[in-house]
Amino acid sequence: MTTTRNSKAHFSGRPVWAEVSLPALTHNFKAIRAYVNPPEEKRKAPRKVLSIVKGNGYGHGGPQVAKALEKAGSDWFGVTCTAEGIEVRKAGIRKPILVLTSFWPGEESRLLQHRLSPAIIRCDQLAALERAAARRGLPKASVGFHLKIDTGMNRLGISPGDVECFARQFAKCRHLRLEGVFTHFASSEVFANSPVAEQTRRQEERFHAALERLRGLGVDPGIVHLANSAAIASRPETWGDMVRPGVILYGYHPGYEPLEMRAEAEKKLPLKPVMSLRARIISLRNVPPGSGVGYNSKFVAERPSKIAVLAAGYGDGIHRSLGNRGSVLVHGKLAPIVGIVSMDVTMVDVTEIPGVQIGDIATVYGTDGEHTLPANAVARSIGTVTSDLLCAVTQRVPRIYLS
Ligand SMILES: Cc1ncc(COP(=O)(O)O)c(C=O)c1O
Repeated sequence: MTTTRNSKAHFSGRPVWAEVSLPALTHNFKAIRAYVNPPEEKRKAPRKVLSIVKGNGYGHGGPQVAKALEKAGSDWFGVTCTAEGIEVRKAGIRKPILVLTSFWPGEESRLLQHRLSPAIIRCDQLAALERAAARRGLPKASVGFHLKIDTGMNRLGISPGDVECFARQFAKCRHLRLEGVFTHFASSEVFANSPVAEQTRRQEERFHAALERLRGLGVDPGIVHLANSAAIASRPETWGDMVRPGVILYGYHPGYEPLEMRAEAEKKLPLKPVMSLRARIISLRNVPPGSGVGYNSKFVAERPSKIAVLAAGYGDGIHRSLGNRGSVLVHGKLAPIVGIVSMDVTMVDVTEIPGVQIGDIATVYGTDGEHTLPANAVARSIGTVTSDLLCAVTQRVPRIYLS
């Protein structure tokens, strides 16, 4: 177990780093797979899992987490774009990769070269993909893709009313193969008594009606998938043939409405935080009452205070809005962040924590021995979501993979 005094992370350089626990990631993946395959359901084939590793694996390192997840049995991977897909492929991933936000004109041949399956989000994209496949002289039905249907988010995907047009265009594309059809939920975490809480059910109905029309036109939809994290945890009727976990893979349930549902979800599907963001204390000073700390003196000491300076700021992923608001763990105790978070450093008040020394480790979120400062609680305290916080860890922060 990693403790503040005894970190397993060994590297040289500016002492800020993100520890990524591959056992925790594998635990979460296996827990999700077991959860969506309850023995009483008696399916012919196990329900598949498409691991969402976009956004550099929610900040954890896309290629590295994909490798661990492939080993754990992930059936598919989801990335944002061609470039992310290529990075994951180059890491040695052999399982299929779905490019969720589709491709931009000019990217088709790179998609095909790296065997990436694009999401088709507009009917006119079919002809472009077909032309690229023909140019490369690929065999018939060798280029897989998924069709995304927009069932109410009004973001990406063909409208249900375009299903006929899709079927007509697709019939002309002899190189293409429809591997799956999916939709994405706008509000699957909302159960509170509000019109938004009804949205998921309406999206499901539209999706299934579109699928029926597709089948009626002689098109086999292949793998049917809808569920993101909240739907996986709390809406079994949406699981389809495959689920697409994002934030739950990384150890956190989303923010349900009502909030009390989180405890219920955590009990049904216990997860382990994967990332711990840490920095060492690089300076310690005694600040007398009446003295300001940091830019614009937004914190003024009211008592003789011991202020520790961490080697991490918003340029590393400590959200600036945590200034004068959040806390970090030092020696397993909460040390309040004081003043404005700078780009490169953050000040914390360690007056109440005995024995703090230069070189000690602060945990911005994650685990510290038997203590945890959950990233979802930190996110909620500043009015954002866990994924935002995790993705905010910048490139200059080394990721240390613990196995
Ligand atoms: C299409 C799609 N599926 C699944 C996910 C995973 O979402 P979550 O992190 O809520 O599980 C995302 C993320 O935004 C997505 O865009």
